[in-house]
Amino acid sequence: MNLGKLGQALSAREIFDLIQHELELVEQRISSESVASVEAVTAIGQYLQSAGGKRLRPALVLLSAKLAGNGGRTAVQLGAVVELVHAATLVHDDVIDAAQTRRGRPSTNFKWGNHTCVLAGDWLYMQAFQIALRERNFQILELLIGLTQMMVEGELIQLERIGRIGVTEADCMELVDRKTACLFSVCARLGALAGNADAQFQEKLGEYAWNLGMAFQLVDDVLDFTAREKTLGKPVGGDLREGKVTLPLVYALECASPSERRLVEIILQQRSYDEVPFARILALLEKYRGIERVKERAQTFTDKARNIIGEFPESPYQRALLTVTELVTERDH
Ligand code: IPE
Ligand code: IPE
Ligand code: MG
Ligand code: MG
Repeated sequence: MNLGKLGQALSAREIFDLIQHELELVEQRISSESVASVEAVTAIGQYLQSAGGKRLRPALVLLSAKLAGNGGRTAVQLGAVVELVHAATLVHDDVIDAAQTRRGRPSTNFKWGNHTCVLAGDWLYMQAFQIALRERNFQILELLIGLTQMMVEGELIQLERIGRIGVTEADCMELVDRKTACLFSVCARLGALAGNADAQFQEKLGEYAWNLGMAFQLVDDVLDFTAREKTLGKPVGGDLREGKVTLPLVYALECASPSERRLVEIILQQRSYDEVPFARILALLEKYRGIERVKERAQTFTDKARNIIGEFPESPYQRALLTVTELVTERDH
């Protein structure tokens, strides 16, 4: 470990180096735990795993456990658990969104169809809980079950709002919390728990990760407008085409004229950019600083996360968690 790096920001590589061995164990765990009696389920699990993904959630579990002073075997198990929960949400989410691409490849629903994917997603959830159950710790199960309900309710709330233009900032924040921030928070709490940290430590680290997750999802909503599809691994402009009005657009709509508002309504009705091109929406966002304002908002969450983690004693892991906040706001995929 390079202690000379203390006091400086670490690179993404250096962060992953700190937990490289454990991350490899997490991968092995996921592989060996994704085998079902039905071949399609095993294939879906392996397909998703091999497509990559940033593995940010297991990394959060592992770094949190190490910050708390340990982790070991339990942290690795819980790292696999959160990635499997994440994978299950993605399989279901892509069914709901009728997605065609995920992680730069045809999405699982596109390849295997909705029926199989709904059941495969259920199986992945249950497999995650199965691994968690082996820890014989009710607190772990309570966190995971509460989390899953929060996320499922989030998807249901989002479904109710599909195609609606009258979405508020508060509506968006609620979804960002449910879709992403609550999972990030649970990752950190589980890590702290695995490291035998006390309740206050768990709470504080959970709050750090919650703020990080809020920033992460807001950046995701921005990238949906600004990224290149090849880098992002999923189509750009997808949210609006799917009928979702996210925060950049909410901010722009606050200032838009009735005719500009009408443009957004047309896309929401048609679910395509055939009549109103995507470039027209980008121009609207530019005119009313929709992207800029959401980036600023994301930065306030990142700053909060940084302040919280800054209160922990300095260590390579604390430094790594501090650097994660920069990576999240500066990411391009
Ligand atoms: C995708 O999460 C879903 C969102 C919360 C935006 P990630 O962007 O972490 O997806 P992978 O795991 O790296 O593919
Ligand atoms: C995030 O939802 C995925 C979940 C946490 C369920 P989105 O629909 O915003 O994510 P992408 O854009 O498909 O990755
Ligand atoms: Mg989606
Ligand atoms: Mg979705």
